[in-house]
Amino acid sequence: MAIEVSFCQTKEEFIDAFGAIGHYFGGGVSIEEVDQVLQVFECDRTQMAREAGAVVGGCGAHSYELTVPGGRVAAAGITIVGVRPTHRRRGVLRAMMRAQIDDVHARKEPVAYLWASEETIYGRFGYGMAALNAAIELPKSDCVFARPFTPRGELRLHPLEEAYAPIAEVYDRLRGDYPGMFSRKEGWWKNRRLADTPSRRGSSGELNRVVLYLDGRPEAYCLYRLNQAIDGGITTGVVNVLEALGTTPEATREIWHFLLQIDWIAKVRAGNLSVDHPLLFLLAHPRRLRPVISDSLWVRLVDVEAALNARRFADAPAVVLEVEDPFCPWNAGRYRVSLEGAVRTDAAAELRLDVEALGSLYLGGFTASQLARASRIEERSAGALGRADLLFRGERAPWCPEIF
Ligand SMILES: CC(C)(COP(=O)(O)OP(=O)(O)OC[C@H]1O[C@@H](n2cnc3c(N)ncnc32)[C@H](O)[C@@H]1OP(=O)(O)O)[C@@H](O)C(=O)NCCC(=O)NCCS
Repeated sequence: MAIEVSFCQTKEEFIDAFGAIGHYFGGGVSIEEVDQVLQVFECDRTQMAREAGAVVGGCGAHSYELTVPGGRVAAAGITIVGVRPTHRRRGVLRAMMRAQIDDVHARKEPVAYLWASEETIYGRFGYGMAALNAAIELPKSDCVFARPFTPRGELRLHPLEEAYAPIAEVYDRLRGDYPGMFSRKEGWWKNRRLADTPSRRGSSGELNRVVLYLDGRPEAYCLYRLNQAIDGGITTGVVNVLEALGTTPEATREIWHFLLQIDWIAKVRAGNLSVDHPLLFLLAHPRRLRPVISDSLWVRLVDVEAALNARRFADAPAVVLEVEDPFCPWNAGRYRVSLEGAVRTDAAAELRLDVEALGSLYLGGFTASQLARASRIEERSAGALGRADLLFRGERAPWCPEIF
């Protein structure tokens, strides 16, 4: 039977569409919850796939401003993708991806990106693995700084309403420095990142929101939960760090000092750090961080020329890329990339790659040489890989501290 894909127009349709992903999380959204949920999700960007009138799949997108090396770009943050298990592997996802990419293109958002539930799914639609993250679990006894210092500043534990202004201010001041970070609207902060709803809390402790003030100004914050547990009178509890960010190296060091010194716990866990996190050099025992690395962001250039021109390139000799893109054929062709940006060209191709590989280069998290070593890029002119490495190089590893 034919699958029809459309965008939601009412709350009731949104609830039906959300139910497809909700199926994998033990339930969807109720009519009582929907207004709050729509402070975070966008009804008219949520698709539903129907068969004979019944909703069998859903998929959404957030309207983000994404930080890229040296700039920012309008980007669709793809989310809540789900197909009911009764209708899997019948092309429902493919139909939704088609409608979604066409919509993102029509909205003139040059980039779409996502966190993948499984790394096997999105390459076929042109998404390339573009960033990694690191998860750590550090025993309290190893929470020792390499260079001891006297803490400075004032720490305040804020309730949600008080936390919003200083935390959003800190985040907005720093997010432009980190490729991979996205803009957060007030509804996002209050109903998602700073919210402590029962579904987000699960079996953990309450959400704590701590701001560090240096010379009276908010310069860092952390969001964490304490999961206390006692065994034979000895704590086995954990500080679970959701997010800890500072505007300067000093502020970052201070906020981590606070987290690592909390009493009566056995370890500190952080699930989503950058792979080049300053803790590696702040701590006396970096080896004991034992970071577990995994893929985080997957990037899809929906309009290659516009996307490339939204980021900055280093001052290096130009390179000509030939890009293949069967899913979005409007992108196929050759581009000359230089310090001045990217322009279409008839010049001979020096590197051949598909749009998935270009997505992997985009945020500066991986190099052209690295992809060539994995047979993802073909070098047709000697030296072209080295030039691409220099042009696309980023100042730091891309990082998105939050799964959306
Ligand atoms: C993942 C999911 C959305 C796929 O939906 P689907 O309707 O079964 O997918 P389709 O039938 O449209 O498949 C499209 C293609 O993706 C492939 N594919 C789909 N799911 C896949 C998976 N989990 N792993 C590998 N490949 C997958 C199909 O084989 C097909 O490949 P092809 O076109 O090259 O032949 C669905 O299984 C689901 O809802 N899973 C649980 C929730 C989830 O993981 N959501 C993703 C959140 S990021």
